[in-house]
Amino acid sequence: MFLTKKSHKIEINYSSNFQRYLRIYRWNPHYQQKPWFNIYPISLKYCGPMILDALFQIKNTQDSSLSFRRSCREGICGSCSMNINGVNSLACLRSLDQESKFITIYPLPHMYVIKDLIVDLTSFYAQYKSIKPWLINNLLPKKEQLQSKKDRLELDGLYECILCACCSASCPSYWWNQNIYLGPAILLQAYRWIADSRDKSTDSRLSFLNHKIRLFRCHTIMNCSKTCPKNLNPGKAIANIKQSILYT
Ligand code: SF4
Ligand code: FES
Repeated sequence: MFLTKKSHKIEINYSSNFQRYLRIYRWNPHYQQKPWFNIYPISLKYCGPMILDALFQIKNTQDSSLSFRRSCREGICGSCSMNINGVNSLACLRSLDQESKFITIYPLPHMYVIKDLIVDLTSFYAQYKSIKPWLINNLLPKKEQLQSKKDRLELDGLYECILCACCSASCPSYWWNQNIYLGPAILLQAYRWIADSRDKSTDSRLSFLNHKIRLFRCHTIMNCSKTCPKNLNPGKAIANIKQSILYT
């Protein structure tokens, strides 16, 4: 039997394969108290297939105060990133029935928490803005810019990034230096523009990145590539930037 913060008793049915218990990190800045956990039972028979469905069911039927971000519910917007059973991932892409009976959910680690599972991404987006994530080419006429198929292929594995921040929040270098180190997500995005054959700002992009912390605080730990829910490889993108700096 579990006790939640509000002292609701929850009976655990150990024999049922259709039961899951979501143990969710809670924090509310308006309460003068430390973070706590609530445990919510979910029956797989009466819930959609994904962790995000379970969060919705909890919010709609058990506890409307639970806060989390979401939008697309199909792995495209990147808003439902959170730490599920120890792995940063997207709640809408994690299947409930493939998880253990007890599912522990935290907000993304080493980020400031706004409320419950919602973290503050202000600094993350400011870093994104700092790499000028748009095409820079004053020579081209202002119309659709075509690429050869070969040049377009260079963007595969980069343009699919949805900026969910799972990789950056899994990186120890980012945990301790996120005021300066750009982290794997933003560096992958930076390389997306360096690799674009239409962009003519490669030199200034590389010179901005050529900094002992901004880029070189990456110590190739590779948690980023292991955790990315879109199966991208930010570690490789970072290595490509370092290589480009070395050979220009
Ligand atoms: Fe998310 Fe992957 Fe992009 Fe990192 S590289 S922000 S984990 S989609
Ligand atoms: Fe959009 Fe999960 S809700 S990625």
